[in-house]
Amino acid sequence: MSMLAPFARRLSLAGRRKAAARRGHAALVVLALLLVTPALAAAAGLTDADYRYLKAQFGLAKDSFTLTNIGAADAEKLHALINDPKDKEFPQRRDLNVADYLFDTEMRTCEAWQLAHAAPSCPQVTDPQLKPGWEIAERNCIACHLTGTTTAPSFFKLAQSGPLTEDRLAATLRSGHQMSPITLDRQELQELVRYINSLR
Ligand code: HEC
Repeated sequence: MSMLAPFARRLSLAGRRKAAARRGHAALVVLALLLVTPALAAAAGLTDADYRYLKAQFGLAKDSFTLTNIGAADAEKLHALINDPKDKEFPQRRDLNVADYLFDTEMRTCEAWQLAHAAPSCPQVTDPQLKPGWEIAERNCIACHLTGTTTAPSFFKLAQSGPLTEDRLAATLRSGHQMSPITLDRQELQELVRYINSLR
């Protein structure tokens, strides 16, 4: 026992030196994390440039229902899609990829919100003037027109191209426009047109 004592002391000295080294490493790791964290935080969510793009391309404001309630994983994925270096020369492909993901994101964000609030619907549109039109669109049109598809323009883009009239909308819906004709009464057409034109 006594013959082992110096050994033990040497071991414990070595152990202490290692522990000290570990503490040094830990301090370095903490320092590195402190330096890297702001960069990570910026990369993980949506940046100001992303918000500007989403507003210009999809009419989605930073304080919109979707962008204020979006989950962290969706925000990260959207950021990656908006900034995909592969799409630098193909902005249209970027817009379509973002449109597809944005549509899913809007649906997911809404479902999560409804679950959390035990609510039957989401408050994406709160203006009482526009709500009836939005509800008709939600039932009949948003699958193709919320963020747009390869063939269908988003209602936002449609509104940008000029004011929609009831007659033009009625004619579009009657002619089928690449889908089975949708029949809506005059009042519903009016509500829809008011909602779509509000996106200008
Ligand atoms: C299954 C997909 C789909 C659905 C659902 C759909 N649309 Fe469309 N819509 C399209 C496509 C594709 C186009 C573009 C090609 C065309 O005009 O035929 C279009 C074009 C339009 C246009 C532009 C036509 C023009 O005058 O330039 C309007 C307005 C429109 N849709 C309104 C609606 C409304 C309102 C609803 C719901 C009541 C609706 N759409 C539902 C696919 C859809």
